[in-house]
Amino acid sequence: MDILKILEEMTQINSPSGNEDEIRKYILSKISEYCDEIDTDAMGNIIAHRTGGGKKIMFAAHMDEIGVIAASADDNGFIYFSPVGGLNTRNLVNLRVRFTNGTAGVIGAKEAAFKDKPSVDKLYIDIGAKNKTEAEKKATVGDCAAFEGGFIKSGDTVISKALDNRAGCAVIMKAMSEIKESKNDLYFVFTVQEEVGLRGAKTAAFAIEPDIAVAVDVTDTGDTPDAPVMAVEMGKGAAIKVMDRSIICDADVRTKMIETAKKNKIPYQLEIMTDGGTDAGAIHLTRAGIKTGGVSIPTRYIHSPSETASADDIKSCAELIYNLAITEW
Ligand code: CO
Ligand code: ZN
Repeated sequence: MDILKILEEMTQINSPSGNEDEIRKYILSKISEYCDEIDTDAMGNIIAHRTGGGKKIMFAAHMDEIGVIAASADDNGFIYFSPVGGLNTRNLVNLRVRFTNGTAGVIGAKEAAFKDKPSVDKLYIDIGAKNKTEAEKKATVGDCAAFEGGFIKSGDTVISKALDNRAGCAVIMKAMSEIKESKNDLYFVFTVQEEVGLRGAKTAAFAIEPDIAVAVDVTDTGDTPDAPVMAVEMGKGAAIKVMDRSIICDADVRTKMIETAKKNKIPYQLEIMTDGGTDAGAIHLTRAGIKTGGVSIPTRYIHSPSETASADDIKSCAELIYNLAITEW
C-alpha cells in the first residue's frame, strides 16, 4: 500500500463530521482484504477485526474532518453557517469551501478589516446565488461544507486540507496492510464525529471493550516562529502522547510504545499537547476504563486548508503502529 497515495486521495474527499459516507466508502474499499470481519456500526464507525489470540487491541483514527454547516440564507443569497468542529474564525475569511453536494463557495466577512477574532455571525458563504430561493437550492439548512485545499508534496513535506486526520487513517491502513502474523486480537477502527466531541470513538470502544487502545491523530508543533512552547517538532519522528487536554496516557502503554520504537529504530518524540483532545480521551473513559495511549503526527497549521506535516513522520507512525500490533503485550 502506497501510504502517500492513499493519503493524497483521502485528503481530497470532503467528509465533515456527520457526513462520513464518502470517506467511509473509500476506506472500506482499501482495507477489506486485510481483515477477517468488517462492520459499520449505528454511529457510522468502521470496525475492522483481524482475529487472533492474545490481548484485544484497538487502534483508532477519526475519519471526519472539520467544516461548516449551512444554517440560513438571506434575501441576497448569502449563506450563514455554524462551525462543525473547532474552527478559528480568524482563519476563515476568504477561504474556499465546498458543500458535500458539490456547491462551491467563498467565506466572506461583514467587516472588510478587523483586529479581533470575528464571531461566526459576522461571516457568510458566498455561493454566487442571486437570492434566497436560489441559495437554498444550492445549499439548504443542514448541508455541510469542507475546506478546499489541494494536496502538495514538496520534498519530505506534505501540505493539504484534512491531514487531520486522514494522515492518521493512512497510518492505520498502512500498518494493517503490512501485518502477516500477530500475537494479538486486533481491531482497527475509523471513527466518526471526533471533531465535534470525540463521539464515535466512545461507542466503538464500548462495543469492542479492548484491553488496550491506541488512538492515532495529528498534534500541534512548537517549531514555528513565536509558536506556543511545545516540545514536538515536525520531522523529528512519531510523537508518543504523554498527555493532552482529554487524557493522561496510561504509563504502561506509553512505556511499551517507547520500547517498541527504540527496538525497531523508529524515530520518536514525546508529546504534551496543551490545546485540544483526541479520541484517546473518549476511549480511556469508556466502560470501567481502558488502558489507552496515543500516537501523533506532528502537524503545523492544524484546522486550516494548509495543514503541513512530514512524510517521514507519517511513515514512522505507520511503522510504530505496525510493530505495536504484532508485538506481544
Ligand atoms: Co481536528
Ligand atoms: Zn484530529
